[in-house]
Amino acid sequence: MTQLPGLLDTEAIRKDFPVLDRQVHDGKKLVYLDNAATSQKPRQVLDALSEYYERYNANVHRGVHVLAEEATALYEGARDKVAAFINAPSRDEVIFTKNASESLNLVANMLGWADEPYRVDHETEIVITEMEHHSNIVPWQLLAQRTGAKLKWFGLTDDGRLDLSNIDEVITEKTKIVSFVLVSNILGTLNPVETIIRRAQEVGALVCIDASQAAPHMPLDVQALQADFVAFTGHKMCGPTGIGVLWGRQELLEDLPPFLGGGEMIETVSMHSSTYAPAPHKFEAGTPPIAQAVGLGAAIDYLQSIGMDKILAHEHALTEYAVQRLAEVPDLRIIGPTTAEDRGAAISFTLGDIHPHDVGQVLDEQGIAVRVGHHCARPVCLRYGIPATTRASFYLYSTPAEIDALVDGLEHVRNFFG
Ligand code: ALA
Repeated sequence: MTQLPGLLDTEAIRKDFPVLDRQVHDGKKLVYLDNAATSQKPRQVLDALSEYYERYNANVHRGVHVLAEEATALYEGARDKVAAFINAPSRDEVIFTKNASESLNLVANMLGWADEPYRVDHETEIVITEMEHHSNIVPWQLLAQRTGAKLKWFGLTDDGRLDLSNIDEVITEKTKIVSFVLVSNILGTLNPVETIIRRAQEVGALVCIDASQAAPHMPLDVQALQADFVAFTGHKMCGPTGIGVLWGRQELLEDLPPFLGGGEMIETVSMHSSTYAPAPHKFEAGTPPIAQAVGLGAAIDYLQSIGMDKILAHEHALTEYAVQRLAEVPDLRIIGPTTAEDRGAAISFTLGDIHPHDVGQVLDEQGIAVRVGHHCARPVCLRYGIPATTRASFYLYSTPAEIDALVDGLEHVRNFFG
Protein backbone atom coordinates (compact mmCIF):
# COMPACT_ATOMS: atom_id res chain seq x y z
CA MET A 1 0.00 0.00 0.00
CA THR A 2 1.30 3.49 -0.89
CA GLN A 3 2.30 5.43 2.23
CA LEU A 4 2.66 9.20 2.07
CA PRO A 5 3.85 11.53 4.85
CA GLY A 6 1.00 13.34 6.57
CA LEU A 7 -1.71 10.77 5.90
CA LEU A 8 -4.37 10.11 8.52
CA ASP A 9 -5.12 6.62 9.81
CA THR A 10 -7.77 6.04 7.15
CA GLU A 11 -8.25 2.42 8.15
CA ALA A 12 -9.62 3.59 11.50
CA ILE A 13 -11.48 6.60 10.08
CA ARG A 14 -13.23 4.57 7.38
CA LYS A 15 -14.80 2.33 10.05
CA ASP A 16 -16.83 5.39 11.13
CA PHE A 17 -18.43 5.73 7.67
CA PRO A 18 -20.82 2.83 7.01
CA VAL A 19 -21.47 3.74 3.39
CA LEU A 20 -17.79 3.36 2.48
CA ASP A 21 -18.22 -0.41 2.92
CA ARG A 22 -20.75 -0.53 0.12
CA GLN A 23 -20.32 -2.46 -3.04
CA VAL A 24 -21.86 -1.32 -6.29
CA HIS A 25 -22.39 -2.83 -9.74
CA ASP A 26 -22.26 -6.50 -8.76
CA GLY A 27 -19.66 -6.51 -6.04
CA LYS A 28 -17.35 -3.67 -7.06
CA LYS A 29 -15.85 -1.85 -4.09
CA LEU A 30 -17.15 1.71 -3.88
CA VAL A 31 -14.44 4.33 -4.52
CA TYR A 32 -16.12 7.56 -3.49
CA LEU A 33 -14.34 10.53 -5.06
CA ASP A 34 -17.25 12.97 -5.18
CA ASN A 35 -16.63 14.71 -1.87
CA ALA A 36 -16.84 18.23 -3.27
CA ALA A 37 -20.47 17.49 -4.15
CA THR A 38 -21.23 16.04 -0.73
CA SER A 39 -19.26 14.22 1.92
CA GLN A 40 -20.23 10.94 3.53
CA LYS A 41 -21.48 10.96 7.14
CA PRO A 42 -19.82 9.22 10.08
CA ARG A 43 -21.75 7.03 12.49
CA GLN A 44 -21.38 9.77 15.15
CA VAL A 45 -23.49 12.15 13.02
CA LEU A 46 -26.03 9.48 12.08
CA ASP A 47 -26.40 8.60 15.78
CA ALA A 48 -26.82 12.25 16.79
CA LEU A 49 -29.61 12.64 14.23
CA SER A 50 -31.53 9.55 15.31
CA GLU A 51 -30.98 10.32 19.00
CA TYR A 52 -32.38 13.81 18.45
CA TYR A 53 -35.55 12.44 16.86
CA GLU A 54 -35.86 9.52 19.29
CA ARG A 55 -35.41 11.54 22.49
CA TYR A 56 -35.75 15.28 22.03
CA ASN A 57 -37.81 16.26 19.01
CA ALA A 58 -39.73 19.49 19.66
CA ASN A 59 -39.94 22.96 18.19
CA VAL A 60 -37.38 25.45 19.47
CA HIS A 61 -37.76 28.82 21.23
CA ARG A 62 -41.50 28.28 21.53
CA GLY A 63 -42.37 25.79 24.26
CA VAL A 64 -42.21 25.69 28.04
CA HIS A 65 -42.17 21.90 28.21
CA VAL A 66 -39.08 19.76 28.81
CA LEU A 67 -38.62 18.58 25.25
CA ALA A 68 -38.91 22.10 23.86
CA GLU A 69 -36.29 23.33 26.30
CA GLU A 70 -33.95 20.44 25.56
CA ALA A 71 -34.37 20.83 21.79
CA THR A 72 -33.67 24.56 22.12
CA ALA A 73 -30.53 23.85 24.15
CA LEU A 74 -29.34 21.38 21.50
CA TYR A 75 -30.07 23.78 18.63
CA GLU A 76 -28.37 26.72 20.35
CA GLY A 77 -25.56 24.41 21.45
CA ALA A 78 -24.92 23.66 17.78
CA ARG A 79 -24.60 27.42 17.21
CA ASP A 80 -21.93 27.54 19.94
CA LYS A 81 -20.06 24.71 18.23
CA VAL A 82 -20.12 26.49 14.86
CA ALA A 83 -18.98 29.76 16.49
CA ALA A 84 -16.01 28.00 18.12
CA PHE A 85 -15.19 26.08 14.91
CA ILE A 86 -14.78 29.31 12.92
CA ASN A 87 -13.45 31.39 15.85
CA ALA A 88 -16.38 33.82 15.68
CA PRO A 89 -16.15 36.58 18.30
CA SER A 90 -19.81 36.01 19.20
CA ARG A 91 -22.32 33.16 18.84
CA ASP A 92 -24.87 35.79 17.73
CA GLU A 93 -22.91 36.20 14.50
CA VAL A 94 -23.81 32.65 13.39
CA ILE A 95 -26.99 32.40 11.30
CA PHE A 96 -28.36 29.00 10.36
CA THR A 97 -29.68 28.70 6.81
CA LYS A 98 -30.63 25.84 4.51
CA ASN A 99 -27.32 25.76 2.59
CA ALA A 100 -24.53 28.01 1.34
CA SER A 101 -26.71 29.18 -1.57
CA GLU A 102 -29.28 30.49 0.88
CA SER A 103 -26.52 32.16 2.91
CA LEU A 104 -25.22 33.99 -0.18
CA ASN A 105 -28.75 34.94 -1.29
CA LEU A 106 -29.31 36.29 2.21
CA VAL A 107 -26.29 38.59 1.94
CA ALA A 108 -27.38 39.83 -1.50
CA ASN A 109 -30.88 40.55 -0.23
CA MET A 110 -29.71 42.23 2.99
CA LEU A 111 -27.67 44.65 0.89
CA GLY A 112 -30.42 45.08 -1.69
CA TRP A 113 -32.96 46.19 0.94
CA ALA A 114 -30.50 48.06 3.17
CA ASP A 115 -30.34 51.80 3.81
CA GLU A 116 -27.17 53.80 3.35
CA PRO A 117 -24.29 53.22 3.83
CA TYR A 118 -24.79 49.58 2.76
CA ARG A 119 -27.40 49.90 0.04
CA VAL A 120 -26.53 48.55 -3.40
CA ASP A 121 -28.12 50.79 -6.06
CA HIS A 122 -27.65 52.01 -9.62
CA GLU A 123 -24.65 54.12 -8.66
CA THR A 124 -22.72 51.26 -7.10
CA GLU A 125 -20.82 48.16 -8.20
CA ILE A 126 -20.76 44.52 -7.18
CA VAL A 127 -17.56 42.49 -7.73
CA ILE A 128 -17.37 38.69 -8.07
CA THR A 129 -15.01 36.36 -10.00
CA GLU A 130 -15.24 34.15 -13.05
CA MET A 131 -14.60 31.04 -10.94
CA GLU A 132 -17.68 31.38 -8.73
CA HIS A 133 -20.21 28.63 -8.23
CA HIS A 134 -23.59 29.69 -9.68
CA SER A 135 -24.71 30.30 -6.10
CA ASN A 136 -22.28 33.21 -5.91
CA ILE A 137 -23.16 34.54 -9.38
CA VAL A 138 -26.92 34.36 -9.79
CA PRO A 139 -27.90 36.14 -6.51
CA TRP A 140 -25.66 39.07 -7.54
CA GLN A 141 -27.07 39.09 -11.08
CA LEU A 142 -30.57 39.22 -9.60
CA LEU A 143 -29.54 42.05 -7.28
CA ALA A 144 -27.88 43.96 -10.13
CA GLN A 145 -30.99 43.56 -12.30
CA ARG A 146 -33.25 44.74 -9.51
CA THR A 147 -31.18 47.73 -8.42
CA GLY A 148 -29.35 48.79 -11.60
CA ALA A 149 -25.98 48.17 -9.91
CA LYS A 150 -23.09 47.20 -12.19
CA LEU A 151 -21.78 43.63 -11.89
CA LYS A 152 -18.01 43.27 -12.45
CA TRP A 153 -15.67 40.32 -12.06
CA PHE A 154 -12.08 39.17 -11.97
CA GLY A 155 -11.13 36.94 -14.90
CA LEU A 156 -8.96 33.82 -14.80
CA THR A 157 -5.40 33.09 -15.83
CA ASP A 158 -4.61 30.15 -18.10
CA ASP A 159 -3.43 28.11 -15.10
CA GLY A 160 -6.73 28.45 -13.24
CA ARG A 161 -6.00 31.29 -10.86
CA LEU A 162 -7.63 34.70 -10.42
CA ASP A 163 -6.21 37.40 -12.66
CA LEU A 164 -5.78 40.26 -10.19
CA SER A 165 -3.54 42.33 -12.49
CA ASN A 166 -6.32 44.93 -12.83
CA ILE A 167 -7.48 44.81 -9.20
CA ASP A 168 -7.56 48.61 -8.86
CA GLU A 169 -9.86 48.94 -11.87
CA VAL A 170 -12.16 46.10 -10.83
CA ILE A 171 -12.53 47.17 -7.18
CA THR A 172 -13.13 50.94 -7.13
CA GLU A 173 -14.63 53.62 -4.92
CA LYS A 174 -18.02 52.58 -6.32
CA THR A 175 -17.68 48.97 -5.13
CA LYS A 176 -20.14 48.10 -2.38
CA ILE A 177 -19.47 44.38 -2.07
CA VAL A 178 -16.79 41.93 -3.20
CA SER A 179 -17.95 38.32 -3.04
CA PHE A 180 -15.61 35.48 -3.93
CA VAL A 181 -14.88 31.85 -3.33
CA LEU A 182 -12.06 30.80 -1.00
CA VAL A 183 -11.48 27.43 -2.71
CA SER A 184 -13.00 26.85 -6.15
CA ASN A 185 -15.28 23.83 -6.42
CA ILE A 186 -14.26 23.20 -10.03
CA LEU A 187 -10.64 24.37 -10.30
CA GLY A 188 -9.58 23.61 -6.75
CA THR A 189 -7.77 26.98 -6.59
CA LEU A 190 -7.15 28.51 -3.15
CA ASN A 191 -7.57 32.25 -3.64
CA PRO A 192 -5.33 35.04 -2.23
CA VAL A 193 -7.79 36.42 0.29
CA GLU A 194 -5.49 39.02 1.80
CA THR A 195 -4.76 40.82 -1.47
CA ILE A 196 -8.45 41.09 -2.32
CA ILE A 197 -9.54 42.10 1.17
CA ARG A 198 -6.81 44.76 1.42
CA ARG A 199 -8.08 46.42 -1.76
CA ALA A 200 -11.73 46.10 -0.70
CA GLN A 201 -10.94 47.72 2.64
CA GLU A 202 -9.10 50.58 0.87
CA VAL A 203 -12.33 51.56 -0.88
CA GLY A 204 -14.65 50.71 2.02
CA ALA A 205 -16.35 47.76 0.28
CA LEU A 206 -17.79 44.84 2.21
CA VAL A 207 -16.34 41.36 1.60
CA CYS A 208 -18.28 38.10 1.44
CA ILE A 209 -16.46 34.77 1.21
CA ASP A 210 -17.94 31.52 -0.07
CA ALA A 211 -16.09 28.99 2.09
CA SER A 212 -18.15 25.94 1.05
CA GLN A 213 -15.09 24.05 -0.21
CA ALA A 214 -12.81 25.38 2.53
CA ALA A 215 -14.67 24.90 5.82
CA PRO A 216 -14.71 21.08 5.50
CA HIS A 217 -11.02 20.84 4.68
CA MET A 218 -8.93 23.39 6.61
CA PRO A 219 -8.97 25.48 9.77
CA LEU A 220 -11.27 28.46 9.21
CA ASP A 221 -10.81 31.54 11.38
CA VAL A 222 -13.23 34.32 10.49
CA GLN A 223 -11.30 36.84 12.60
CA ALA A 224 -8.04 36.10 10.79
CA LEU A 225 -9.82 36.21 7.40
CA GLN A 226 -11.09 39.74 8.12
CA ALA A 227 -14.10 39.37 5.82
CA ASP A 228 -17.55 40.72 6.65
CA PHE A 229 -19.53 37.60 5.74
CA VAL A 230 -18.54 33.95 5.39
CA ALA A 231 -20.91 31.31 3.96
CA PHE A 232 -20.63 27.52 4.03
CA THR A 233 -22.75 24.40 4.10
CA GLY A 234 -23.01 21.44 6.46
CA HIS A 235 -23.38 18.53 4.07
CA LYS A 236 -19.87 18.86 2.62
CA MET A 237 -18.31 18.63 6.10
CA CYS A 238 -19.79 15.33 7.34
CA GLY A 239 -23.05 16.98 8.41
CA PRO A 240 -26.57 16.39 7.07
CA THR A 241 -28.13 18.17 4.12
CA GLY A 242 -30.48 21.08 4.85
CA ILE A 243 -28.17 23.13 7.05
CA GLY A 244 -25.95 26.02 6.03
CA VAL A 245 -24.23 28.83 7.88
CA LEU A 246 -23.82 32.52 7.32
CA TRP A 247 -21.37 34.21 9.62
CA GLY A 248 -21.54 38.02 9.60
CA ARG A 249 -19.93 40.79 11.64
CA GLN A 250 -22.18 41.71 14.53
CA GLU A 251 -22.56 45.43 13.81
CA LEU A 252 -23.57 44.61 10.22
CA LEU A 253 -26.13 42.06 11.33
CA GLU A 254 -27.56 44.60 13.73
CA ASP A 255 -27.86 47.26 11.00
CA LEU A 256 -28.95 45.19 8.01
CA PRO A 257 -32.61 44.35 7.35
CA PRO A 258 -34.06 40.82 7.38
CA PHE A 259 -34.88 39.05 4.13
CA LEU A 260 -37.44 36.39 5.05
CA GLY A 261 -40.28 37.34 7.38
CA GLY A 262 -42.17 34.98 9.66
CA GLY A 263 -42.33 33.41 13.08
CA GLU A 264 -39.61 33.93 15.67
CA MET A 265 -37.75 36.62 13.73
CA ILE A 266 -39.82 39.40 15.31
CA GLU A 267 -39.88 41.40 18.49
CA THR A 268 -43.47 42.59 18.07
CA VAL A 269 -46.09 42.50 15.31
CA SER A 270 -49.23 44.57 14.78
CA MET A 271 -51.46 44.70 11.72
CA HIS A 272 -49.55 47.79 10.59
CA SER A 273 -45.91 46.97 11.17
CA SER A 274 -43.36 44.79 12.95
CA THR A 275 -40.10 45.18 14.78
CA TYR A 276 -37.44 42.53 14.64
CA ALA A 277 -35.61 40.26 17.04
CA PRO A 278 -31.86 40.80 17.41
CA ALA A 279 -29.49 38.79 15.19
CA PRO A 280 -29.20 35.92 14.56
CA HIS A 281 -32.92 35.29 15.08
CA LYS A 282 -33.86 38.24 12.82
CA PHE A 283 -32.53 36.15 9.94
CA GLU A 284 -34.06 32.78 10.91
CA ALA A 285 -37.77 33.04 10.07
CA GLY A 286 -39.95 30.01 10.72
CA THR A 287 -39.09 26.64 12.22
CA PRO A 288 -35.35 26.27 11.63
CA PRO A 289 -33.50 23.10 10.55
CA ILE A 290 -33.22 21.82 14.13
CA ALA A 291 -32.12 18.21 13.67
CA GLN A 292 -29.81 19.31 10.88
CA ALA A 293 -28.12 21.87 13.14
CA VAL A 294 -27.68 19.19 15.80
CA GLY A 295 -26.17 16.92 13.13
CA LEU A 296 -23.81 19.68 12.04
CA GLY A 297 -22.73 20.14 15.66
CA ALA A 298 -21.91 16.41 15.82
CA ALA A 299 -19.98 16.71 12.52
CA ILE A 300 -17.93 19.55 13.97
CA ASP A 301 -17.18 17.49 17.08
CA TYR A 302 -16.09 14.65 14.81
CA LEU A 303 -13.84 16.80 12.59
CA GLN A 304 -12.29 18.49 15.61
CA SER A 305 -11.59 15.14 17.25
CA ILE A 306 -9.38 14.41 14.24
CA GLY A 307 -8.04 17.95 13.83
CA MET A 308 -8.52 20.34 10.92
CA ASP A 309 -4.73 20.79 10.55
CA LYS A 310 -4.36 17.04 10.18
CA ILE A 311 -7.22 16.84 7.68
CA LEU A 312 -5.58 19.60 5.63
CA ALA A 313 -2.21 17.80 5.70
CA HIS A 314 -3.86 14.52 4.67
CA GLU A 315 -5.63 16.07 1.73
CA HIS A 316 -2.51 17.97 0.68
CA ALA A 317 -0.52 14.73 0.58
CA LEU A 318 -3.28 13.04 -1.43
CA THR A 319 -3.51 15.97 -3.84
CA GLU A 320 0.24 15.93 -4.43
CA TYR A 321 0.06 12.21 -5.13
CA ALA A 322 -2.99 12.62 -7.37
CA VAL A 323 -1.52 15.36 -9.60
CA GLN A 324 1.61 13.27 -9.99
CA ARG A 325 -0.31 10.08 -10.87
CA LEU A 326 -2.78 11.87 -13.16
CA ALA A 327 0.18 13.32 -15.10
CA GLU A 328 0.95 9.71 -16.12
CA VAL A 329 -2.39 9.37 -17.93
CA PRO A 330 -1.94 10.18 -21.65
CA ASP A 331 -4.16 13.00 -22.97
CA LEU A 332 -5.27 14.03 -19.49
CA ARG A 333 -5.41 17.82 -18.97
CA ILE A 334 -5.96 19.22 -15.50
CA ILE A 335 -8.26 22.25 -15.59
CA GLY A 336 -6.89 24.36 -12.75
CA PRO A 337 -3.57 24.48 -10.89
CA THR A 338 -1.40 21.51 -11.86
CA THR A 339 0.56 21.40 -8.61
CA ALA A 340 -0.66 20.84 -5.08
CA GLU A 341 0.37 24.35 -3.99
CA ASP A 342 -2.41 26.79 -3.12
CA ARG A 343 -5.16 24.40 -4.09
CA GLY A 344 -7.75 22.21 -2.45
CA ALA A 345 -8.47 18.55 -2.99
CA ALA A 346 -10.86 18.81 -5.96
CA ILE A 347 -9.20 18.10 -9.29
CA SER A 348 -11.00 18.65 -12.59
CA PHE A 349 -9.69 17.27 -15.85
CA THR A 350 -10.49 16.40 -19.42
CA LEU A 351 -9.38 13.18 -21.11
CA GLY A 352 -8.60 13.70 -24.80
CA ASP A 353 -11.84 14.28 -26.62
CA ILE A 354 -13.81 11.72 -24.62
CA HIS A 355 -16.87 13.44 -23.23
CA PRO A 356 -16.74 13.74 -19.41
CA HIS A 357 -20.17 12.09 -19.14
CA ASP A 358 -18.73 9.03 -20.87
CA VAL A 359 -15.67 9.12 -18.61
CA GLY A 360 -17.93 9.30 -15.54
CA GLN A 361 -20.12 6.46 -16.73
CA VAL A 362 -17.27 4.06 -17.44
CA LEU A 363 -15.66 4.96 -14.10
CA ASP A 364 -18.99 4.35 -12.37
CA GLU A 365 -19.19 0.88 -13.90
CA GLN A 366 -15.92 0.18 -12.08
CA GLY A 367 -17.35 1.46 -8.79
CA ILE A 368 -15.61 4.86 -8.97
CA ALA A 369 -17.87 7.82 -8.15
CA VAL A 370 -16.79 11.19 -9.61
CA ARG A 371 -18.77 14.23 -10.69
CA VAL A 372 -19.00 15.26 -14.35
CA GLY A 373 -20.46 18.38 -15.95
CA HIS A 374 -19.92 22.09 -15.42
CA HIS A 375 -20.12 21.70 -11.62
CA CYS A 376 -22.46 24.71 -11.33
CA ALA A 377 -19.55 26.87 -12.50
CA ARG A 378 -20.35 27.07 -16.20
CA PRO A 379 -18.41 30.31 -16.84
CA VAL A 380 -15.21 28.39 -15.99
CA CYS A 381 -15.93 25.85 -18.72
CA LEU A 382 -16.68 28.67 -21.16
CA ARG A 383 -13.38 30.38 -20.19
CA TYR A 384 -11.36 27.25 -20.97
CA GLY A 385 -13.34 26.30 -24.07
CA ILE A 386 -14.58 22.95 -22.78
CA PRO A 387 -18.14 21.66 -22.40
CA ALA A 388 -17.54 20.01 -19.04
CA THR A 389 -14.94 18.30 -16.86
CA THR A 390 -14.56 15.13 -14.83
CA ARG A 391 -13.84 15.98 -11.19
CA ALA A 392 -12.29 13.78 -8.51
CA SER A 393 -12.40 15.20 -4.99
CA PHE A 394 -10.94 13.78 -1.78
CA TYR A 395 -11.69 13.93 1.91
CA LEU A 396 -10.34 12.71 5.22
CA TYR A 397 -11.18 9.07 4.46
CA SER A 398 -9.75 9.04 0.91
CA THR A 399 -6.67 6.90 0.29
CA PRO A 400 -3.78 6.67 -2.19
CA ALA A 401 -5.22 3.28 -3.24
CA GLU A 402 -8.38 5.08 -4.37
CA ILE A 403 -6.27 7.43 -6.48
CA ASP A 404 -4.55 4.38 -7.99
CA ALA A 405 -8.01 2.94 -8.71
CA LEU A 406 -8.96 6.19 -10.46
CA VAL A 407 -5.82 6.13 -12.61
CA ASP A 408 -6.43 2.46 -13.52
CA GLY A 409 -10.06 3.31 -14.22
CA LEU A 410 -9.04 6.12 -16.57
CA GLU A 411 -6.76 3.70 -18.42
CA HIS A 412 -9.79 1.46 -18.85
CA VAL A 413 -11.81 4.45 -20.15
CA ARG A 414 -9.11 5.17 -22.75
CA ASN A 415 -9.04 1.54 -23.89
CA PHE A 416 -12.83 1.42 -23.99
CA PHE A 417 -13.00 4.45 -26.30
CA GLY A 418 -10.04 3.27 -28.35
N1 ALA B 1 -21.41 22.56 -5.14
C1 ALA B 1 -21.36 21.14 -5.24
C2 ALA B 1 -20.34 20.67 -6.22
O1 ALA B 1 -19.42 21.38 -6.55
C3 ALA B 1 -22.69 20.54 -5.44
O2 ALA B 1 -20.45 19.55 -6.69
